[in-house]
Amino acid sequence: MRAPEGLQSVGGRQGLKGSQLLEVSEFGTGDFRTPSMDVCFRKDGSRLLPLVYKHHRVIDGILPSTSGLPFLGRHNSQGAQSLVVDMVDTYTEVQVQLVYTVFPSISAVSRRMVVKNSSKVGLGGVDLMKCMSATFDFSTDDWHLLSLHGGWANERHINTRRIQEGMIHLGSNRGVSSHQMNPFCVLSSGPPAEDHGQCFGFCLLYSGNWLMEVEQSQTGCVRVNVGLSNTHFSWALGNQESFETPECVCVFSDAGLGKMTRTFQHLIGERLIAPRWHDLVCPVLINTWEALYFEVYHDKILEFAKPAIEAGVELLVLDDGWFGKRDDDTTSLGDWVEDPRKLPRGLKGLAQDVNAMGLKLGIWVEPEMVNQDSQLYRSHPEWVLHHPGRLRSEGRNQLVLDLTRREVQDYIIDCVSQILSSANIEYIKWDMNRALTDAFSAALPPQQQGEVYHRYVLGLYRIFEVLTSSFPHVLFESCASGGGRFDAALLAWCPQAWCSDNSDAFSRTRIQMGTSMWAPVRCMGAHIAACPSHQTHRTHMLKTRFIVALWGTFGLELDLNKLSREELKEMKELVALRGKLCQVVLHGEYFRLPGFGYPGASHSNSAGIGDSHVYAWMFVTPEKDRAVVSAIVFHRDTVGKFPSRLKLQGLRPDYLYSLIEHVPTTVEEGVFNGIFQPGGPQFKHRRRLMLTGAVLMEVGIPVHFNFDGDAMLLELEVGGPSQEPKESNGVHVLAS
Ligand code: GLA
Repeated sequence: MRAPEGLQSVGGRQGLKGSQLLEVSEFGTGDFRTPSMDVCFRKDGSRLLPLVYKHHRVIDGILPSTSGLPFLGRHNSQGAQSLVVDMVDTYTEVQVQLVYTVFPSISAVSRRMVVKNSSKVGLGGVDLMKCMSATFDFSTDDWHLLSLHGGWANERHINTRRIQEGMIHLGSNRGVSSHQMNPFCVLSSGPPAEDHGQCFGFCLLYSGNWLMEVEQSQTGCVRVNVGLSNTHFSWALGNQESFETPECVCVFSDAGLGKMTRTFQHLIGERLIAPRWHDLVCPVLINTWEALYFEVYHDKILEFAKPAIEAGVELLVLDDGWFGKRDDDTTSLGDWVEDPRKLPRGLKGLAQDVNAMGLKLGIWVEPEMVNQDSQLYRSHPEWVLHHPGRLRSEGRNQLVLDLTRREVQDYIIDCVSQILSSANIEYIKWDMNRALTDAFSAALPPQQQGEVYHRYVLGLYRIFEVLTSSFPHVLFESCASGGGRFDAALLAWCPQAWCSDNSDAFSRTRIQMGTSMWAPVRCMGAHIAACPSHQTHRTHMLKTRFIVALWGTFGLELDLNKLSREELKEMKELVALRGKLCQVVLHGEYFRLPGFGYPGASHSNSAGIGDSHVYAWMFVTPEKDRAVVSAIVFHRDTVGKFPSRLKLQGLRPDYLYSLIEHVPTTVEEGVFNGIFQPGGPQFKHRRRLMLTGAVLMEVGIPVHFNFDGDAMLLELEVGGPSQEPKESNGVHVLAS
């Protein structure tokens, strides 16, 4: 068939489009890089969608979204402005809107895409096969990529590499954002550094299957594509129907990763998390899991609670095991009714007793799941994601409920609402302990099976929206076998997330370093657990475990009845100290401290880059009048060597700060013979120091670690603007 007059060819050089820096890209008309979009017109099977600019407008505020997906500014759009660019395929009239939002004084832009099928040429339905949130094209540079990788109990380790020709795929096809890779990456001009260099951070607000493609093409230019995974994805768009992508947030920093992190933390903290949690000082909680596991009997819980009250704990979280016949992980998920053997007076009776002791009560739930051995499964086997003709796979003995179905969403909403209405429960730990497989929904027609993964996530978001609006006073923490769904999107409803099932202080240091790349510190669930660690069998001093748990929400996950009187007294002092420092930690500016390490080692830049076993980080109030500094050593490198001076950041150079060392070491290594000598408290800094911000930041302080696993905690308080520093260089007053 002849093409209509004037449509035979597009003038110009083929491939020109392929070397341009584009905002949206389709495949098949000259750009050979990975595209933003791929569509299929059902009637003739054609897949072309060359888009041209139609018009644009700038609006105050945010373009309304009806998808149920979270976006920056949804509670607080003050000062926001949006640019809406309308693109069109002139042949079919399919329309694509590029939606950008910016906020005052923040170097960031968020971007989503809306596709509308308004095809007038009779090509019928359109299947979206790929529909990314954002495409960012960059000119040639010495680009490096930083991304977060890991696995169960080992999440979000920092990985960096130089970008070369070809394609790097980051993503998850597990139905959750995943332990293995986190929906976040950084493009850095030159090797990424904490305190200098230009970088662009990308964070996708999404909790399901995602994809980030980083492609360096023949020209040296780099494309970053961010959005939904296109594996087993398609979305059927009937005539006049629209599809909206999740939002991608891009942050620019001209001063390295540290500044980028603080921008993300501000944006997420102020524009994504619900305003009622903005000033939250996370309650000090004690969780039953690693102490009691499934043995959660009413009286035993009260015994467990007694020393917790003495230690200053505020909230008791009843973890797994309280419902159905849940004595192990083979049974009862789906049956959200108290087990009368364990809770004879139900959650209500437990809450009454726990409250009477002065503690709040929180509970664990895993409502997205069902065990075959449950009333729910026996009544509704069809509610499980699976293909009826095939074998299906279980994970942790459980199956995944089909959250694409409205009736399943409503069942979950009803169950959790009933629990929350039945007793004074002020906190929910919402868990999700397996990946999605067999993602087939008998409730959807054949042409919509490619929608299952995304509809699952939309269903989950609806559940959270309904529950958190109905019970606004309840604090939700998300969890997925630890940190398997630690993504920014869920923070819109659950302002805390459990970082990892690994609570070993060393493992946690690396996990929290990586997590802190974009997450506000007050969102990172971190607990002091028992020793030896249930995950690594390593033993760390309470001091070290405290310092690492302080760098997050702060809680306890051990049986305090097993501590000696002295240890319980120490725990009480630590909880009180956390109370003193938490405002600075949770609501201060956060800095990872680079350039700290032993001679000869490739120094960590504190983001875990390099092979250093020494890490340091700090928090400073917005007024810069108080700060908290922490450092940890995994392996003390050769007895007798000192690490480099620890240079602080974020202080006022002209302020004079007093430094107080908290939680001193109580064993000291003999200086001459290397023998450990238990003794009284050993301060690394034997008396209170007064140093200016300039000295602390430019000269730094010597830190003497005594042994493997040693850690240090300093509190800084301003003593008023300095005149002249008292000592010439501030160094000779320090104990080495
Ligand atoms: C997951 C969570 C743990 C705990 C258990 C209970 O593994 O990450 O913290 O709640 O489930 O089964």
